Amino acid sequence: MYVVTGATGNTGRVVAETLLAKGKKVRVIGRNTGNLQSLVDKGAEAIVGSVADSSTMLHAFQGAQAVYALVPPNYATENFRAYQNEVGSAYSSAIRQAGVPFVVNLSSVGAHLSQGAGPISGLYDVEQQLNQLHGVNIVHLRAGFFMENLSFSLDLIRNQNINGSPLRPDLPIPMIATRDIAQVATQLLLSMDFSGHSTRELLGQRDISMREATRIIGKAIGKDQLAYVQFSYEQAEQTMMAMGLSQDVARSLSEMDRALNEERVRPLEERTAANTTPTSFEQFADSFAAVYRGQEGAKATGV
Ligand SMILES: NC(=O)c1ccc[n+]([C@@H]2O[C@H](COP(=O)([O-])OP(=O)(O)OC[C@H]3O[C@@H](n4cnc5c(N)ncnc54)[C@H](OP(=O)(O)O)[C@@H]3O)[C@@H](O)[C@H]2O)c1
Repeated sequence: MYVVTGATGNTGRVVAETLLAKGKKVRVIGRNTGNLQSLVDKGAEAIVGSVADSSTMLHAFQGAQAVYALVPPNYATENFRAYQNEVGSAYSSAIRQAGVPFVVNLSSVGAHLSQGAGPISGLYDVEQQLNQLHGVNIVHLRAGFFMENLSFSLDLIRNQNINGSPLRPDLPIPMIATRDIAQVATQLLLSMDFSGHSTRELLGQRDISMREATRIIGKAIGKDQLAYVQFSYEQAEQTMMAMGLSQDVARSLSEMDRALNEERVRPLEERTAANTTPTSFEQFADSFAAVYRGQEGAKATGV
């Protein structure tokens, strides 16, 4: 039995679907029955509840040989780090009590930083919580910046003809497609060939700056002149709060951007074949463009 948390999200859905396609028994966790239904249709057992709830996690992890663990974002919480610790604690106590032998934990590049890296320092806490578990084999996948983060700019690009964030335009960032993370996670879950506690960085196909990413997206959507604008941290926090994020989450994300800009959040490993993954930013831009055009089409037809 495999258990997949965040099973309706970027990485979890691909992990769950791949395991199901290989005929494995899979339990999927989410908050919403409807969102899990397509996985149930493919043979998964659904557990509906919160990953912050330790008794639900104990129920979910019973009899599992391996768990794919991640801390889903919670944009509304008044204390993001406390929330991340709550989820980490629910996972570690359930893993211990259920006697789960293998865990693949989604973490982040920079999770060696106990302070000053926003949500990434919360993932440091979660790694530490899991590392308290003796006799459990755990890999922390320290993934780079998700290419899918660029999807948060869809409205900005459409409405203002710019892309922007507080990140430096010229900063090389290891950007990764979430499906590549899922592929590595699934391989590890299937092979269970890791032991003890280890970290593994996943750095995407190449490092790419926001200026270059914006140029590639601009080309893919037919806006060759699309420019990248670096916002101030304050501006970005105000925008995030206007979009409904709590003040603490906005502050935390801004702290992470600062840590990236100051190159405190950066890979610890040299780039190698082992931490490089196949999907290029150009490939991601094609799927970004399909979503962008789909939304334009829907707008034009009033759907
Ligand atoms: N963004 C980046 O650049 C980056 C880089 C490195 C690491 N990370 C880490 O990656 C993780 C996110 O991974 P992801 O993108 O695969 O996840 P995701 O797409 O954000 O999906 C998480 C899923 O979890 C479910 N969920 C949300 N809150 C829940 C709760 N309280 N209890 C149970 N389920 C809940 C949601 O589904 P329902 O709505 O159906 O419940 C959602 O689809 C985070 O820990 C993040 O810090 C992100």
